Amino acid sequence: MAIPNIESIIRAHSDFSMDDPAEQYIEATKMHRLTFGIDMPDTHSLHDKPELIKATWRATKQTDGRVITLDDPNVDDDLSQALKSRRTVQRFPTFKAFRDDDISQLCWSADGVSGSLVEEKGHWGRTAPSGGALYPRDVYLIFPKADAAHAGSWHYNPYEQRLEHVDDATLDEVFSDSWQQRAVANASVCFVVAGVFWRNRFKYNLRGTRFALIESGMVTQNLLLAAQRQHWASMPFGGYYDDELCHALHLDGLNESPLSVVFIGARGQ
Ligand SMILES: Cc1cc2nc3c(=O)[nH]c(=O)nc-3n(C[C@H](O)[C@H](O)[C@H](O)COP(=O)(O)O)c2cc1C
Repeated sequence: MAIPNIESIIRAHSDFSMDDPAEQYIEATKMHRLTFGIDMPDTHSLHDKPELIKATWRATKQTDGRVITLDDPNVDDDLSQALKSRRTVQRFPTFKAFRDDDISQLCWSADGVSGSLVEEKGHWGRTAPSGGALYPRDVYLIFPKADAAHAGSWHYNPYEQRLEHVDDATLDEVFSDSWQQRAVANASVCFVVAGVFWRNRFKYNLRGTRFALIESGMVTQNLLLAAQRQHWASMPFGGYYDDELCHALHLDGLNESPLSVVFIGARGQ
């Protein structure tokens, strides 16, 4: 039985269509262990054509109109340094466990409470913006077996600034495929930003799903920059099986579904 949420309550009497394009889009972009070759048929063949990949290196649009040449950017401040130096790593050379204060800082930077939105306290703003301040996203963390103190899957509660245990599934178990091992080996944690679509669908309808996608990107970039600033290495990761990740995080994959995955670990020398 579906668990009632604010969308189902507000729309209790409206004519629901089974043919929901936003849900279908999320569903159609999922990747499954058994149908991987069908889900992304060209991924492997592209790797055999380096010249094709090279052709994408400077992809941008150019117009024939007037040009304004811009000054060199100033990259001296902390934010610019983090922006400039962030790079996706190919592997984590050694394992390093997170301290609680590091976890706290990363979670807060990604999507923590940054202050009150209104004078009367209670409606909180977060480090990433949100359409209508409805926050259709949640952050989860999955730690590996090697981190005995944190091993398992957790939900970040930004209002209480705490992690709430979800499942014993560890990072190693959730990402067990051989080709995922480059990301998993020595990773200290995996962050997952999940869309919680019902939180804004009742107001924005199908466009709400677009907002959830935008916002998960904003939260992810906050996380990547914070990790860089704290001297961690990061790897955004698209190669996960949606249903297996949903299972580990207790998400139904429909009302709540993973949108962005980032592995974080120790830097090389
Ligand atoms: C949505 C998304 C999915 C990605 N998936 C993977 C992945 O599965 N494996 C990987 O090694 N890198 C992955 N990356 C990292 C990209 O390869 C990387 O961002 C790109 O090469 C640009 O390099 P940079 O991040 O160092 O700027 C992903 C990045 C994004 C934004």
